[in-house]
Amino acid sequence: MPTKQELHTFLRTRRSIRRFRPDSVPEAVIEEILATATFAPSAHNRQPWRFAVVTEPVVKTRLGQAVTGKMRADMQADGANQSDIEKRAATSLRRMDEAPVVIVLCRDKTDVRVDTVEEAAMGIQSTAAAGLQLLLAAHAEGLGGNWVCWALYAQEETRDALNLPETWEPQAFYFLGYPDEMPEMKNRKDLKSVILTVDDGR
Ligand SMILES: Cc1cc2nc3c(=O)[nH]c(=O)nc-3n(C[C@H](O)[C@H](O)[C@H](O)COP(=O)(O)O)c2cc1C
Repeated sequence: MPTKQELHTFLRTRRSIRRFRPDSVPEAVIEEILATATFAPSAHNRQPWRFAVVTEPVVKTRLGQAVTGKMRADMQADGANQSDIEKRAATSLRRMDEAPVVIVLCRDKTDVRVDTVEEAAMGIQSTAAAGLQLLLAAHAEGLGGNWVCWALYAQEETRDALNLPETWEPQAFYFLGYPDEMPEMKNRKDLKSVILTVDDGR
C-alpha cells in the first residue's frame, strides 16, 4: 500500500498529456480504467456516467470529421477568418488521430433528474467526477490523458457519428495513450488565495 505522501505525490503529478506514442492500449487496461472511474461519487448514487470507447482509426476519423464540421460552422457563424478555421480544424483532427484511445463521457438523461436547475447540475457534477477519476486511473496505469471539452459544442454530431443512444448526452472527450511528452506542472494559484477559513468572528 502506498504511503499517504506517495498518494499525494501521485495525485499531484497527473498532467494533461496531449502527445502520445502510437502504441495501442490493451483492452484490459481500458476496462480497468473505466471500472475505477465508476467508483466516483454521484448524486443520489444514480451513476449517470456512460462511456463510449473509440479506438478504431476509421471511427475516430468519423468522429473528428463530425466534430470539426460543427467547429467550422460555429467559427464561420462567429465571423472567424477561413485560415484560422482551417488551422483549428486541422489541429483538432490531428489530435483525435494521434490519440490511441478516445473516450466519450456522457450523462445519461434517464439517470438524472432535470426538473430543477440544481438536480441537473448534480447530474453534470456526478458525470464530471467520473471524468476526473478516469484521468487519475489512467495516470495509475502509466497512461497520459487530456480532458477535451469539444463534445459539449457538438453533442448531436458526436451522438450521430458514434450511434450513441438518444439519452446519452456527450459531456467530454478523454484522449488517452502512452505519453510522448512530460509537460511541466501548470501554474497553481497560491493556496491561500483559494481558501477562506471561516471563523465566528463576524
Ligand atoms: C472541463 C475541462 C475542459 C477542458 N477542455 C480542454 C480542451 O478542450 N482542450 C485541451 O487541450 N485541454 C482541456 N482541458 C485541460 C486543461 O487545459 C488542463 O487541465 C489545465 O490547463 C491544467 O493543466 P493540467 O491538467 O496539466 O494540470 C480541460 C479541462 C477541464 C477540466
